[in-house]
Amino acid sequence: MARVFILNGVNLATLGTRRPEVYGTMTLDDIERLVGEAFPDVDLEFRQTDFEGEMVGFIREASDSDGLVINAGAWTHYSYALHDALESVDVPKVEVHISNVHRREGWRRASVISPSVHAVIAGMGVQGYVAAVRYVLEGPGS
Ligand code: DQA
Repeated sequence: MARVFILNGVNLATLGTRRPEVYGTMTLDDIERLVGEAFPDVDLEFRQTDFEGEMVGFIREASDSDGLVINAGAWTHYSYALHDALESVDVPKVEVHISNVHRREGWRRASVISPSVHAVIAGMGVQGYVAAVRYVLEGPGS
Protein backbone atom coordinates (compact mmCIF):
# COMPACT_ATOMS: atom_id res chain seq x y z
CA MET A 1 0.00 0.00 0.00
CA ALA A 2 1.37 3.43 -0.97
CA ARG A 3 2.03 5.80 1.89
CA VAL A 4 1.72 9.55 1.27
CA PHE A 5 2.25 12.39 3.73
CA ILE A 6 -0.07 15.42 3.60
CA LEU A 7 1.48 18.15 5.69
CA ASN A 8 -0.29 21.33 6.76
CA GLY A 9 1.52 24.21 8.34
CA VAL A 10 0.91 27.26 10.40
CA ASN A 11 -2.68 28.50 10.90
CA LEU A 12 -4.23 25.80 8.74
CA ALA A 13 -5.99 24.31 11.77
CA THR A 14 -8.33 27.30 11.56
CA LEU A 15 -9.67 26.38 8.12
CA GLY A 16 -13.46 26.44 8.09
CA THR A 17 -13.71 29.74 9.94
CA ARG A 18 -10.60 31.55 8.70
CA ARG A 19 -11.43 33.90 5.81
CA PRO A 20 -14.03 31.60 4.20
CA GLU A 21 -14.25 33.93 1.19
CA VAL A 22 -10.61 33.02 0.46
CA TYR A 23 -10.22 29.47 1.79
CA GLY A 24 -13.79 28.12 1.69
CA THR A 25 -15.70 26.56 4.56
CA MET A 26 -14.15 23.09 4.77
CA THR A 27 -12.20 22.29 7.91
CA LEU A 28 -8.94 20.36 7.88
CA ASP A 29 -10.91 17.29 9.05
CA ASP A 30 -13.24 17.72 6.06
CA ILE A 31 -10.23 17.89 3.74
CA GLU A 32 -8.72 14.77 5.31
CA ARG A 33 -12.03 12.96 4.72
CA LEU A 34 -12.26 14.22 1.12
CA VAL A 35 -8.75 13.02 0.26
CA GLY A 36 -9.27 9.74 2.11
CA GLU A 37 -12.43 9.05 0.08
CA ALA A 38 -10.61 9.86 -3.16
CA PHE A 39 -7.78 7.42 -2.31
CA PRO A 40 -9.23 4.61 -0.20
CA ASP A 41 -6.27 2.33 -0.99
CA VAL A 42 -3.59 4.80 0.06
CA ASP A 43 -2.17 5.09 3.56
CA LEU A 44 -2.44 8.86 4.15
CA GLU A 45 -0.45 10.50 6.95
CA PHE A 46 -2.45 13.72 7.38
CA ARG A 47 -0.74 16.15 9.76
CA GLN A 48 -0.89 19.78 10.92
CA THR A 49 1.44 21.81 13.07
CA ASP A 50 2.01 25.44 14.02
CA PHE A 51 5.63 24.68 14.99
CA GLU A 52 8.26 24.96 12.29
CA GLY A 53 10.66 22.45 13.90
CA GLU A 54 7.88 19.88 14.15
CA MET A 55 7.18 20.37 10.46
CA VAL A 56 10.86 19.74 9.70
CA GLY A 57 10.49 16.44 11.61
CA PHE A 58 7.40 15.49 9.58
CA ILE A 59 9.26 16.20 6.33
CA ARG A 60 12.15 13.97 7.42
CA GLU A 61 9.69 11.25 8.42
CA ALA A 62 8.31 11.34 4.88
CA SER A 63 11.71 10.36 3.46
CA ASP A 64 10.78 6.67 3.50
CA SER A 65 7.26 7.22 2.11
CA ASP A 66 5.98 7.34 -1.46
CA GLY A 67 5.73 11.12 -1.49
CA LEU A 68 4.57 14.23 0.26
CA VAL A 69 2.12 17.07 -0.27
CA ILE A 70 2.72 20.23 1.71
CA ASN A 71 0.66 23.34 2.36
CA ALA A 72 3.16 25.29 4.41
CA GLY A 73 0.83 28.27 4.96
CA ALA A 74 2.72 31.51 5.57
CA TRP A 75 6.01 29.61 6.06
CA THR A 76 5.93 29.18 2.28
CA HIS A 77 6.98 32.76 1.87
CA TYR A 78 10.03 32.89 4.15
CA SER A 79 11.10 29.57 5.69
CA TYR A 80 14.52 28.58 4.38
CA ALA A 81 14.45 25.85 7.05
CA LEU A 82 11.54 24.19 5.25
CA HIS A 83 13.26 24.72 1.90
CA ASP A 84 16.35 22.90 3.15
CA ALA A 85 14.34 20.11 4.81
CA LEU A 86 12.35 19.50 1.62
CA GLU A 87 15.49 19.59 -0.50
CA SER A 88 17.02 16.76 1.49
CA VAL A 89 14.05 14.40 1.06
CA ASP A 90 14.15 12.36 -2.14
CA VAL A 91 10.47 11.53 -2.79
CA PRO A 92 7.84 13.13 -5.09
CA LYS A 93 6.89 16.46 -3.49
CA VAL A 94 4.05 18.88 -4.24
CA GLU A 95 3.42 22.33 -2.77
CA VAL A 96 -0.29 23.13 -2.46
CA HIS A 97 -2.14 26.37 -1.80
CA ILE A 98 -5.90 26.47 -1.49
CA SER A 99 -6.03 30.06 -2.69
CA ASN A 100 -4.46 31.51 -5.82
CA VAL A 101 -1.55 33.19 -4.07
CA HIS A 102 -0.72 35.07 -7.30
CA ARG A 103 -3.98 37.03 -7.16
CA ARG A 104 -3.38 38.23 -3.61
CA GLU A 105 -0.85 40.42 -1.78
CA GLY A 106 2.50 40.76 -3.55
CA TRP A 107 4.41 39.00 -0.75
CA ARG A 108 2.38 35.83 -1.29
CA ARG A 109 3.68 35.50 -4.87
CA ALA A 110 7.11 34.48 -3.63
CA SER A 111 7.67 30.94 -2.39
CA VAL A 112 11.03 29.94 -0.96
CA ILE A 113 10.01 26.28 -0.93
CA SER A 114 9.01 25.95 -4.63
CA PRO A 115 12.62 25.27 -5.78
CA SER A 116 12.74 22.16 -3.58
CA VAL A 117 9.52 20.51 -4.81
CA HIS A 118 8.54 18.91 -8.11
CA ALA A 119 5.23 20.72 -8.62
CA VAL A 120 3.11 23.58 -7.30
CA ILE A 121 -0.69 23.82 -7.19
CA ALA A 122 -2.45 27.06 -6.25
CA GLY A 123 -6.02 28.28 -6.52
CA MET A 124 -7.82 24.93 -7.02
CA GLY A 125 -9.36 25.15 -3.58
CA VAL A 126 -9.37 21.94 -1.55
CA GLN A 127 -9.36 19.91 -4.78
CA GLY A 128 -5.70 20.90 -5.02
CA TYR A 129 -4.93 18.29 -2.34
CA VAL A 130 -6.61 15.55 -4.39
CA ALA A 131 -4.75 16.61 -7.54
CA ALA A 132 -1.46 16.70 -5.62
CA VAL A 133 -1.86 13.16 -4.24
CA ARG A 134 -2.74 11.88 -7.73
CA TYR A 135 0.42 13.47 -9.11
CA VAL A 136 2.54 11.98 -6.31
CA LEU A 137 1.15 8.50 -7.02
CA GLU A 138 1.73 8.78 -10.76
CA GLY A 139 5.25 10.05 -10.18
CA PRO A 140 6.95 13.23 -11.39
CA GLY A 141 7.59 13.23 -15.12
CA SER A 142 4.66 10.94 -15.98
C1 DQA B 1 -2.11 29.34 1.83
C2 DQA B 1 -1.63 30.68 1.26
C3 DQA B 1 -0.64 31.35 2.20
O1 DQA B 1 -0.23 32.59 1.67
C4 DQA B 1 -1.28 31.59 3.55
O2 DQA B 1 -0.34 32.16 4.44
C5 DQA B 1 -1.93 30.38 4.12
C6 DQA B 1 -2.66 29.49 3.23
C7 DQA B 1 -3.20 28.69 0.96
O3 DQA B 1 -3.47 27.52 1.17
O4 DQA B 1 -3.79 29.36 0.10
O5 DQA B 1 -1.89 30.15 5.33
O6 DQA B 1 -0.99 28.45 1.86
